[in-house]
Amino acid sequence: MEKKISIAIDGPSGAGKSTIARRLAKELGYYYVDTGAIYRTVAYFFDLWGIAPKDLDGISRYIDELTVDIVYDDDGLQHMLMNGMDVTEDIRTQDIAQKASLISAYEIVREMLLDMQRDVARKHNVIMDGRDIGTVVLPKATVKIFLTASAEERARRRTEELLAKGQKAQYQTVLAQIRQRDDQDIHRKAAPLKMARDSVKVDTTGMDIDAVVAEIRRIVEEKTGK
Ligand code: DC
Repeated sequence: MEKKISIAIDGPSGAGKSTIARRLAKELGYYYVDTGAIYRTVAYFFDLWGIAPKDLDGISRYIDELTVDIVYDDDGLQHMLMNGMDVTEDIRTQDIAQKASLISAYEIVREMLLDMQRDVARKHNVIMDGRDIGTVVLPKATVKIFLTASAEERARRRTEELLAKGQKAQYQTVLAQIRQRDDQDIHRKAAPLKMARDSVKVDTTGMDIDAVVAEIRRIVEEKTGK
């Protein structure tokens, strides 16, 4: 099989990873893999079972009851299946995001999800976003980007996004949640959020989406000639 191209985009929540990665994937004709959605699916499963994210015993006991699959529809959009049920929309809440941040700290959860992520990259050209793609999942990724922005800017964007979707959102609350998630994702022992040594940092504070996409395309072109 010919060697596939993989672009890893890591960074804190709200940095614009998914918006940028989705646009780039479309422009380049690659698969977009949103790995946060995988952790959200696990969090959603335990939420349905009434197992608290801090209850590692409960998680260890029931994790074998869960299967997680990624499927792509005809438009190339990623869907998440939890035991065969499409939960793509159900996992997009702040509550599940927060719980995903907590359960993703467990080695047992990360291990279960590692192969499925690598498998997509083995079969397709991918743009994969997450926290540990360049450091753990795809340490040999063709291009590694670390996308970041100030916590205030990320909270402002996230608040606007939630309001646009008709969900309730208050800037100060969103900012506090973003800070808490940063703290959890950076300070956990298993695969913490950190910049890979060979990744290129792009600080998107004050940049619009077009400018960020153009900058990343420039970096990708420099590394791959495409
Ligand atoms: O990207 P997101 O907000 O959907 O991710 C939800 C949580 O999942 C995030 O706070 C940490 C965890 N996560 C992770 O640990 N590793 C990844 N590669 C992606 C997400």
